[in-house]
Amino acid sequence: MGYEAEFRRSMDTPDEFWREKAADVSWIEPPKTIWTPTDNGHGQWFPDGLINTCDAALDANIRAGRGNQNALIYDSPVTGSQLTYTYNELTQEVALFAGALKSRGIEKGDRVIIYMPMIPQAVVAMLACARIGAVHSVVFGGFAANELAVRIDDASPKAVITASCGIEVQKIIEYKPLVDKAIEQAQHKPEFCVIYQRPQVAATMTSGRDFDWQEMVADATPATPVPVAATDPLYILYTSGTTGKPKGVVRDNGGHAVAMRYSMDLVYNAGPGDVFWAASDVGWVVGHSYIVYGPLLAGCTTILFEGKPVKTPDAGAFWRVVQDHKVNFLFTAPTAFRAVRKEDPEADLMSRYDISSLKRLFLAGERLDPATYEWLKEHTSLPVLDHWWQTETGWAICCNPVGIEQMTTKPGSATFPSPGFNVQVVDFKGSQMPAGEQGQIAVKLPLPPGCMTTVWGDDERFRKTYLDPIPGFYTSGDGGFVDEDGYVFVMGRTDDVINVAGHRLSTGEMEEVLASHPAIAECCVVGAQDDMKGQVPIGLVMVKDGATISHDELEEELVEMMRDRIGAIACFRRALVVERLPKTRSGKILRRVIRQIADGEEYKVPSTIDDPAILEEISVQLKG
Ligand code: COA
Ligand code: AMP
Repeated sequence: MGYEAEFRRSMDTPDEFWREKAADVSWIEPPKTIWTPTDNGHGQWFPDGLINTCDAALDANIRAGRGNQNALIYDSPVTGSQLTYTYNELTQEVALFAGALKSRGIEKGDRVIIYMPMIPQAVVAMLACARIGAVHSVVFGGFAANELAVRIDDASPKAVITASCGIEVQKIIEYKPLVDKAIEQAQHKPEFCVIYQRPQVAATMTSGRDFDWQEMVADATPATPVPVAATDPLYILYTSGTTGKPKGVVRDNGGHAVAMRYSMDLVYNAGPGDVFWAASDVGWVVGHSYIVYGPLLAGCTTILFEGKPVKTPDAGAFWRVVQDHKVNFLFTAPTAFRAVRKEDPEADLMSRYDISSLKRLFLAGERLDPATYEWLKEHTSLPVLDHWWQTETGWAICCNPVGIEQMTTKPGSATFPSPGFNVQVVDFKGSQMPAGEQGQIAVKLPLPPGCMTTVWGDDERFRKTYLDPIPGFYTSGDGGFVDEDGYVFVMGRTDDVINVAGHRLSTGEMEEVLASHPAIAECCVVGAQDDMKGQVPIGLVMVKDGATISHDELEEELVEMMRDRIGAIACFRRALVVERLPKTRSGKILRRVIRQIADGEEYKVPSTIDDPAILEEISVQLKG
């Protein structure tokens, strides 16, 4: 069956379609009902099914005879170590840690925050939570203590699991002091912390609250998988929105397992025994879906890479990993390949390695720029496949459906809607835009399995953010168009979200940080184009009358505040002091125009602007 027929079937007979896909997953009690509506139009998938996602991802592979196959390969150039776990071994490790958590009182429905570097224990912790029905919330290790505190308050976890340190290119980042600071700052106090001590740093333990991972596991009894309802939450993953408060995207168990399993076929065409590598971090949705759950649910071997595309030790790192572990599918963000191309423009380092095992390259997380696409095509001669998705959806909204039919690619396009996603480009009234014309990219409800079910603890915010703006649709927050051949082009966010090196950040949140400086009267942050990172934030600030701080000193303080409150990954390095901010007569800051000026684009002076001369001043400042 070709793509068109598969897509039509998903639209015309969704129950039959998803019943068939659900059969590829190992259930404890298979669902009888496939979908039921809810009053917000969103609905619930597989409401009467019982499942355990850890069982479906690990034990089911053992039952299928893959116990001795590699499940996880840990490759860590920053520590010079490699480790391999078979499905038998990984299941054992997970069951033991799950038992350890259980013995400390973690039960079904309890939240557990995981703040860890890219080490196998991060994966073990996630799967261990799933095994006992606890809800994990992984926080990316690059976030500062304040961000962790915000998530602790929102998720109210019973436990926090961390490691003594993370290792960046040339520095060791101690995690424990960050966790201590976050807990001190948060209103909610977790009952206990688990610390995995790495050889590089010995974390100081807080007596009575902190427990050593190894000691806990040493006398643990392995836990068996706890049946949960398909609709029970598997995890919460926080993502940036337009305000300072991140949104806790909630993912269910059943719909997620089915979507992950299906996407491994549809999007990647990867199956049992294939070696799948998502070069991302478990703190992001790509890591959740395609380092951990997707590949394991499909019986693949997944790679966990603790390193960078460059400098660990060089721009040949990706190709070395491909050769060493015979990787078949490599998925990363375009920024990673831009970094590689910058250091190895002729791909000399690539030619030193045997990368013949590679079948396809997958890119997502930000727009795949044509230069990176062409470079990859020229030097690898492999299919280079862009796909578009978000933390909210958990899997590709648009992809090249290679598992069914490989379509001709068009540079700049994420190809076609994945079956299950009724993608339409509309205006805010929900009227369809003609082919080629830009509008809001929206998905007609209901969304397919695997997408977010709500915002943790705030269903109202879920409705307001995603369902209310365009009635009957899920609003993606991305703008773009569909061409005459049906190819979807995603052109960028239409809200305050920016994408820095494949990391999603909120300019609204950054503005809140700047505004809290005592010398700042008013400010705005925009995402300006950057050759390597795609976008970087730039702040424009107005100082209060009478403030005596020098501009350089102020910029330094603001940069430090951003590192302290959000984290180094925000890559906030420029804050320009301006006399006034360009505004409309009604007081709205003209962020779009500022961004256009920063990018050196042509811009139209809006007729509503209160003082057009300010734009020229800002332009001079930004060029300086
Ligand atoms: N823990 C702590 N700090 C971290 C971190 C982590 N997990 N990840 C990044 N940081 C820090 C870095 O050390 C750096 O700090 P510095 O300003 O003190 O030097 C800062 O955050 C910015 O890091 P990064 O964005 O990694 O920039 P870089 O210049 O070091 O590297 C790239 C550039 C392109 C190599 C890197 O951004 C990259 O690998 N990007 C791919 C991203 C990706 O996989 N995204 C997932 C979506 S699929
Ligand atoms: P995140 O939730 O961190 O995965 O970020 C999702 C956002 O990244 C999307 O809303 C898009 O703005 C952007 N994005 C992801 N994949 C693509 C892609 N293939 N093309 C263009 N933008 C993308």
